[in-house]
Amino acid sequence: MITVAKYKSVARSGPGPRHVAFIMDGNGRWASEQGLPRLEGHRRGVERIRVVLETLHDFDVRYVTVYAFSTENWGRPRDEVAGLMDLFCAAVEGQTLELHERDVRIVHLGKTANLDPELRLAVEKAQRLTAGNGGITLNVALDYGGRDEILQAVRRIIRDGLDPDCVDEETFNRYLFTAHCPDPDLIIRTGGEQRISNFLLWQSAYSEYYHTATLWPDLQPAELERAVEAYRSRQRRYGKVAGPGV
Ligand code: IPE
Ligand code: IPE
Ligand code: MG
Repeated sequence: MITVAKYKSVARSGPGPRHVAFIMDGNGRWASEQGLPRLEGHRRGVERIRVVLETLHDFDVRYVTVYAFSTENWGRPRDEVAGLMDLFCAAVEGQTLELHERDVRIVHLGKTANLDPELRLAVEKAQRLTAGNGGITLNVALDYGGRDEILQAVRRIIRDGLDPDCVDEETFNRYLFTAHCPDPDLIIRTGGEQRISNFLLWQSAYSEYYHTATLWPDLQPAELERAVEAYRSRQRRYGKVAGPGV
């Protein structure tokens, strides 16, 4: 006789994620819902990062990546882009010291050439100041595009004159903005869309995804906890077959 118990799924609880990456989407819609200008949504969105960091710190997450501005976001209305750049500048200048005191290492992922000089300087200073910190690494993807990152890596590899036969995955990793950290274990996208939007294309080969309709400024610690629990309950097989007892 087949018993129900045989098919009862046992709640799995594997290790938590070491690296969590966020596609922080939904700021504009959040603002519209509140009858506020889009920029207010972005302001609230930037504030959310602090809560997310604190929560993930409690889950022993070592690397957090936030997608703040994509290479495609330059195509938004000029006022929104300018407002975002001002916000980023104020956030980096205003929050670096506190993050430094909390032992956070800040790393920029993306292009620097098109950033306002003031923002570029603030990002460089933040990176320099926090470079030796041993707590959470906060990767800020700003003017970041996965395709652009791959192209830049290819160009640098050619310029460095590497032997094509020696360009393996490990070598390629060293040419990416994320050379200092492991691939993301978990990628969380808020705002309801189910697409990658040019984010960590190479690094996400075996990342687990978690999508939520919650708009980024509304993301609460309880939902983050659910996302981490969902991750822990999954079985990562990396293309292989699950072994006995897995
Ligand atoms: C994400 O929020 C932040 C950036 C892309 C800079 P959006 O501004 O994309 O918000 P929605 O998707 O319009 O609601
Ligand atoms: C992705 O959000 C980029 C960031 C969160 C920075 P978008 O709002 O730009 O993505 P699409 O346009 O919906 O794909
Ligand atoms: Mg969006």
